[in-house]
Amino acid sequence: MPILKANNSSIKKAAEIIKNGGIVAFPTETVYGLGADAFNPKAIAKIFQAKGRPSDNPLIVHLRTSQDLKLVARNIPQIAHQLIEKFWPGPLTLILKKKKIIPNIVSGGLNTVAVRMPDNKIALELIKKVGSPLAAPSANISGRPSGTDAKTVFEDFGNTIDLILNDGKTKIGVESTILDLTITPPAILRQGGVTIEEIRKNIPNVLIADSSLPTKGGTPKAPGMKYRHYAPKAPLVLTNNISEYLKTCSEKRVGILATQENIKHFTNIKKNIISMGSRKNLKQCAQNLFACLRKFDKLDVKLIICEAFPKSGLGAAIMERLEKAEKK
Ligand code: TXA
Ligand code: MG
Repeated sequence: MPILKANNSSIKKAAEIIKNGGIVAFPTETVYGLGADAFNPKAIAKIFQAKGRPSDNPLIVHLRTSQDLKLVARNIPQIAHQLIEKFWPGPLTLILKKKKIIPNIVSGGLNTVAVRMPDNKIALELIKKVGSPLAAPSANISGRPSGTDAKTVFEDFGNTIDLILNDGKTKIGVESTILDLTITPPAILRQGGVTIEEIRKNIPNVLIADSSLPTKGGTPKAPGMKYRHYAPKAPLVLTNNISEYLKTCSEKRVGILATQENIKHFTNIKKNIISMGSRKNLKQCAQNLFACLRKFDKLDVKLIICEAFPKSGLGAAIMERLEKAEKK
């Protein structure tokens, strides 16, 4: 069983595996990542293989310190330094022009690279012990909800990866915000742990890529956002009024994903009901989101009816994921 509690000796072991070209799942503050040496194309190929990930979907490079940015990126604009000062370590990924040292397999053939510095001691210690940055996508089979605990990562990968470092449940639960600084004005390609409102304080005219619209010379998108994502096994529908939806719904085996405040309306109906947390505590809802989606896979449900959130603050990041889970 390749799950080890994260401590000095298991981190050392993980670093040895990565230095020898292996792949290791490790915790970050957002979700678990599946990491390899960013400068080792053969090791990176194993990540694509294990996830079943399309080769045109590039990976994020994880740094130990902002000083290392210049190793992997060039033409770094001044705004990048301001954002790094404010948000690193933390859930903000920057898209910058890449240096040649970044293999094409990492960047999906693009001339840019996605970089971030995770806010997790184990991740940072692992990168330090490996001695080079780690390229890591979220630790889940392509298209599935991201892994936010070690057991879930094991359920997806089993023994197909070399090791999982267990650090419990991740703090944020949704992935990093992706901000493209190679275009003017910069654009948010994926909403995440850092809110749009926070980014606007530094970049008032920041664009927001709408993942529901096709790109036609407009705002570019992260290549990965064109794929179906975050999908539980049963189809999911989003609604502002679950009770109304239930009245017209012919499916009997439904699951309900709602907030604590709204769950009381459904206690008289025999359904599979799962709470994400309090509607007043979006941090809690974000942290639980992927685990809740995955819980329905173990229940006999043919449809998941899910409560919608207002699209502000972390609610926007939650909704971006739920809308992708809803998409066929
Ligand atoms: O929080 C996170 O960001 C987690 C943890 C593990 O760090 N990682 C993560 O990686 O979510 P992944 O691979 O699941 O999502 C990365 C997204 C993909 O949609 C990919 O297309 C986009 O980043 N991306 C990577 N490099 C890019 C680039 N050069 N230009 C545009 N988008 C890029
Ligand atoms: Mg992912």
